[in-house]
Amino acid sequence: MSLQSPNMNVRVVRIEQASPLIKRFTLQAADGGPLPAFSGGSHIIVQMPTASGLIHNAYSLLGSPFQLQQYQIAVRREEASRGGSAFMHTHVAEGDILQISPPNNLFPLHATPGRQILIAGGIGITPFMSQMEELQASGAVFELHYAFRSREQAAFVDELAARYGAHCHFHDASLGELCNVTALLAQMGEQDHVYVCGPQSLIEAVQQAGAEQGIPPARLHWEQFAASTSGGAAFTVVLARSGREIPVAAEQTILQAIESDGSVAVDCLCREGVCGTCEVGIVEGEAEHRDQYLSEEEKQAQNSMLICVSRARGSRIVLDL
Ligand code: FES
Repeated sequence: MSLQSPNMNVRVVRIEQASPLIKRFTLQAADGGPLPAFSGGSHIIVQMPTASGLIHNAYSLLGSPFQLQQYQIAVRREEASRGGSAFMHTHVAEGDILQISPPNNLFPLHATPGRQILIAGGIGITPFMSQMEELQASGAVFELHYAFRSREQAAFVDELAARYGAHCHFHDASLGELCNVTALLAQMGEQDHVYVCGPQSLIEAVQQAGAEQGIPPARLHWEQFAASTSGGAAFTVVLARSGREIPVAAEQTILQAIESDGSVAVDCLCREGVCGTCEVGIVEGEAEHRDQYLSEEEKQAQNSMLICVSRARGSRIVLDL
């Protein structure tokens, strides 16, 4: 059985336009009961029956971990959508039933007497919304740095300002207010932790500043979006145990193609190349590794790959499935 198999029916009780490109969906258990508990930074996986097959996308939970009558997620409409965000924006209406996985947390807060410094870029604000509920409730010292292109394009700014006040620092690029991560990290105390979520460039800037300033990796945490690592040339995956051939389209991952095909179940949790759950042996061919889980040695050995983000190098790859 797949670890990420959706096993809960939820009803969409509210859809709001949070910004020109972002919608917030409020979900309640279809039977009206409480939903499973979660911690700040958790995500769920939403199953979407699109015209081109089943798509499973991970979305951070925005709401309070102390309020389990509903979950909230935010979905940004991506122009180069693999189908998931377009489906949520155009096909899902209030009253609809969706299937979701239970929450899982691959981006948890780490207890510290120091400061918790949260750095968000664009839609990367989402995991911090539930984390800040936890931090506020526990009386932790925290600050949010939220960078966006313009106030008109950004979601939840007024809401965050009203709820967290002086904890929030907004960086509006249209006003020249850039988020200087080098300066932020330079002010870190010995017990402070930094968390970053957003575009790859922002994550890399934090990683680079952390390395240059000698900040221990255990105090730097990031969550990356699958969208930043998806896409490439089309190719064919061959399932070695059955001989079945499955085409993988340019904007599709191997995992998505196998799920749409439906002939074999694959375990997965994060769908972002960080947890290692979807690791599959390579029987023939080579992978273009895009994950953050395998070591450089393991990637070079070409014995296995993480099929939620990595692709084939060439037109065909045979996997131990
Ligand atoms: S599902 Fe987590 S690495 Fe692929």
